[in-house]
Amino acid sequence: MCGYYGEQLVLLAARLGLDSCWVAMSYAKVKNAYTISKGEKLCCVISLGYGKTHGTPHKSKSIEEVAVIKEDTPEWFINGVKAALLAPTAMNQQKFGFMLDGDKVLAKAGKGILSDMDLGIVKYHFEIGSGKEIFGDKIKI
Ligand SMILES: Cc1cc2nc3c(=O)[nH]c(=O)nc-3n(C[C@H](O)[C@H](O)[C@H](O)COP(=O)(O)O)c2cc1C
Repeated sequence: MCGYYGEQLVLLAARLGLDSCWVAMSYAKVKNAYTISKGEKLCCVISLGYGKTHGTPHKSKSIEEVAVIKEDTPEWFINGVKAALLAPTAMNQQKFGFMLDGDKVLAKAGKGILSDMDLGIVKYHFEIGSGKEIFGDKIKI
């Protein structure tokens, strides 16, 4: 849920010309910088600002390494996977997998640190790339 909705903020920031970075570990806890209310939990921080550069493309797995592709796999599915591979993941681990079962998209997190949060992020990218809204209603707030 954090990944899916957080990435919407990240991509909105990008559209506004801002640079960003998801940060789960390497940040200093600054007292009084934020309030965590009862029932809330700080899962991750997203830093926003004007970077010295806009970054460089990350090293990426291939489409076949993260998805089951067959001869009749539709273009929209491949486009979804391509967009998912552009998504940020913790330590660039890209531990996720996509599969098409009939017309149903199955997305799974692999074993890895923060791979569940990564899965939310890549699901949102998949939706943009494929042009299909398939996960939002299944990721409950
Ligand atoms: C859930 C999550 C947690 C992350 N935590 C950290 C972090 O603690 N420190 C850091 O320097 N980068 C962190 N990152 C940034 C990733 O290392 C980075 O997104 C990845 O290497 C891909 O690079 P890119 O975002 O430039 O494409 C995190 C990214 C994600 C998605």
